[in-house]
Amino acid sequence: MLKALRLAWHRWTVRRKMDRVFGRGSDPYRYDASPYELARLEEMAKALAGRRYQKALEVGAAEGHFTRRLAGMADRVMALELSPVALARARAATAGLPVDYEETDVRAWDGRGGPFDVVVLGEVLYYLDKPLVQAEFEEALAKMAGWVAPGGRLLLAHGFADAAERARRVHYRERFEGYGFRLVSESVASARDGDMTPSSLVSLLERP
Ligand SMILES: C[S@@+](CC[C@H](N)C(=O)[O-])C[C@H]1O[C@@H](n2cnc3c(N)ncnc32)[C@H](O)[C@@H]1O
Repeated sequence: MLKALRLAWHRWTVRRKMDRVFGRGSDPYRYDASPYELARLEEMAKALAGRRYQKALEVGAAEGHFTRRLAGMADRVMALELSPVALARARAATAGLPVDYEETDVRAWDGRGGPFDVVVLGEVLYYLDKPLVQAEFEEALAKMAGWVAPGGRLLLAHGFADAAERARRVHYRERFEGYGFRLVSESVASARDGDMTPSSLVSLLERP
């Protein structure tokens, strides 16, 4: 009972926060303008290139910036998003493309339509990796690992600002290796953006 209340509260606070962020206007993360974000999205697409995917899943699609790219590599994309404000923009951005959306918390989603040939987790795991809901984070990791088809791929991309944060991103990849995934490639996307040079660890894994 307490666990369910904690999860409901966490879901509500994240959704409210994200609706506020996206409610201020489109592209709040400057995916279309930031040299760093453009480099990160490009690195993600590069990691997945060279293979055609039948079924793809993206968790935390936001306004559909990577979803659009994914739709060019896959026959069908399923995209999950918690914020209805972001989701409405994602739908508009990918109109006419083979993308299905669900407004949902990934922790409550049942993996329908899976398993998937590729699952994309870009800048999303740290929304779930919180002490208050750590048990649900662990459950979600196991669930997401199970949504990847045998021989299928898992793409992780999470930004970091320093060595400690980079180690936490490496740890995400190691968690999936713990589920039997094999690391195919790993790179760091980085670009100067104003007076900062943010970086993102981009890891491509494969399920045996
Ligand atoms: C920073 S954006 C990342 C967008 C895109 N995946 C990328 O790589 O750029 C993270 C998105 O995840 C969504 N999100 C956060 N927690 C979620 C959850 N539990 N279930 C589904 N989506 C969630 C947020 O609303 C937000 O739109």
